[in-house]
Amino acid sequence: MDVIHDLSLWRNRRAGPEFAGRTVGFVPTMGALHRGHVALLERARRENDAVVLSIFVNPTQFNDQQDLANYPRTLAGDLALAEGLADWVLVPTANDMYPDAYRYRVTETALSLEYEGAHRPGHFDGVLTVVLKLLNLVAPHRAYFGEKDWQQLQLVRAMAADFFLPVEIVACPTVRDDDGLALSSRNRRLSPKARAQAAAFPRILREASDAQTAARRLAEAGFSVDYVADHEGSRLAAIRIEGVRLIDHVRL
Ligand code: PAF
Repeated sequence: MDVIHDLSLWRNRRAGPEFAGRTVGFVPTMGALHRGHVALLERARRENDAVVLSIFVNPTQFNDQQDLANYPRTLAGDLALAEGLADWVLVPTANDMYPDAYRYRVTETALSLEYEGAHRPGHFDGVLTVVLKLLNLVAPHRAYFGEKDWQQLQLVRAMAADFFLPVEIVACPTVRDDDGLALSSRNRRLSPKARAQAAAFPRILREASDAQTAARRLAEAGFSVDYVADHEGSRLAAIRIEGVRLIDHVRL
């Protein structure tokens, strides 16, 4: 596994003989890898000749600077977990990714303003911009995204179609702990008590008859509810517990 920090070096590699005639699967991440990411890498491994992983804590998608500061950074552990699954790991710097200081950006003007976007202004501009940059750099045949971040997945897929990007966006099922909580890099910030309590989040989302009932029951269970919404056969929600923000998505 080759770990590359330098984007010029990476671009030379990508254009070189190592990639010639090989299909490339790409898993973009912000690190703090867990079994959910491993499932994305395994699928990319099965479906492509070569697998590229990126690890980049993207500053432009954080509307809350404290959240950015608290985001776990665990590069050594991430590389150990990716060994044998990824062939190349791209770990760029923020200066290299944003040579224009974020003057150019991708803005979607409808779905990105709802739900998650309504609570995190500018979040999806940051996500779409960095994903477009990464897709241009990696030039994969397939890129893998988890369904937990349902809104992100829809927006990335539509961007790829609208901008005629030659990539297949592959949706992968959410990986959950035994008690049903979706795996997330943020779960590790929960105390054992809050982690046990968090199991009620997906259960209530699945069981409630409508979004309003789910929101009420989540509040009764002690969560601070950002939103619960039913949208095109999916239920999306974000809650906070101990100041940690968790999101989830279940199919109705
Ligand atoms: O889902 C994530 O981890 C991030 O939003 C992504 C897609 C890597 C962009 O920074």
